[in-house]
Amino acid sequence: MSVCEYKPGLEGIPAAQSSISYVDGQKGILEYRGIRIEELAAKSTFLETAYLLIWGELPSKEELAAFEEEVRLHRRIKYRIRDMMKCFPESGHPMDALQASAAALGLFYSLRDLHNPAYIRDSVVRLIATIPTMVAAFQLMRKGNDPVRPRDDLDYSANFLYMLDEKEPDPLAAKIFDICLILHVEHTMNASTFSARVTASTLTDPYAVVASAVGTLGGPLHGGANEEVIQMLEDIGSVANVRPYVEDLIQRKAKIMGFGHRVYKVKDPRATILQNLAEELFSKFGEDKYYEIAQEMERVVAEKLGHKGIYPNVDFYSGLVYRKMGIPTDLFTPIFAIARVAGWLAHWKEQLEENRIFRPTQVYNGQHEAPYIPIDQR
Ligand code: ACO
Repeated sequence: MSVCEYKPGLEGIPAAQSSISYVDGQKGILEYRGIRIEELAAKSTFLETAYLLIWGELPSKEELAAFEEEVRLHRRIKYRIRDMMKCFPESGHPMDALQASAAALGLFYSLRDLHNPAYIRDSVVRLIATIPTMVAAFQLMRKGNDPVRPRDDLDYSANFLYMLDEKEPDPLAAKIFDICLILHVEHTMNASTFSARVTASTLTDPYAVVASAVGTLGGPLHGGANEEVIQMLEDIGSVANVRPYVEDLIQRKAKIMGFGHRVYKVKDPRATILQNLAEELFSKFGEDKYYEIAQEMERVVAEKLGHKGIYPNVDFYSGLVYRKMGIPTDLFTPIFAIARVAGWLAHWKEQLEENRIFRPTQVYNGQHEAPYIPIDQR
């Protein structure tokens, strides 16, 4: 085998063959199973899109109804998991709480039957159904409250928003939230999906697969950027401060959160949709002062860094949408995980269909034949 050139961050190296999603970073195109993201955002629902990604085709009316019903029936979490979560420190990050809770599911469902389609389906349903319940439960418990039971009469997104603060959400907010989940559900071979596939390739259980991907999503260079965007907009404080703030970051060679992408060299198509959704929310529920700052940032960054292909990514406007819905900043990334779990599971299923354990190589640049120096001579 020829020795390949080392590429930091594996840039441009294919890690799998996949028919789940497609990105054209030059043209700003994103497709799930061949369908453009704009079309799914306008016409589909999160659960229908999840079905499409995992089973490869849009469901029939009956198939969708059956899937929705199964997810509805599995939304409750076991009291032992709730009790375990009660012991988590309230100051802990909700992503850490989610990672621990997702991993704990594996303790309850330890049977591993990876070649059985019924096992795959049960695991998919259970994870998609319970991840939102666990996120909402931690949110209420860290405030000292008991978690609320899921409401069977509410659809997937409305139920999650209800479980967060025990109030039935506004229908427009619930609809927009559902679209946000569609936009975040899948994005080719990103860091957390790669993590999911590596873990899946060892033939472990899907709870370990999802827990490892949640851990990877949490970092500020990946899903965690949406929290940092809000922090940054707060630090900037006014439109007049945008230019000096951006210039200072560029001069210090610091990364501007919510901008740039390994694949997109134009504005991320999801950022465009999210910006429109934010405007829809502002026109119903009132303006957000940080939106003007964000728009000015987009203009200044395009002027200064557009030549390097640095434009808003999915995380830039998503925080403003969630903020307007009254969602706390540190839940933005767990919400990203609620959506992305379906993408990870699509990759889990695809990985199992033609599995080979991941075992890349490395370029060794250390020493050889080094002497062992006795401890008293070091
Ligand atoms: N701000 C300023 N400059 C940037 C940014 C940014 N956000 N992103 C890239 N650049 C510049 C780099 O400084 C570098 O410039 P140089 O060639 O003059 O040295 C060039 O663009 C290439 O940057 P890399 O770091 O090599 O790009 P990479 O593909 O490794 O990183 C990443 C992509 C991690 C997303 C990066 O753009 C970044 O850190 N962005 C901010 C964090 C963020 O928003 N992450 C969310 C991404 S979307 C998601 O994961 C859901």
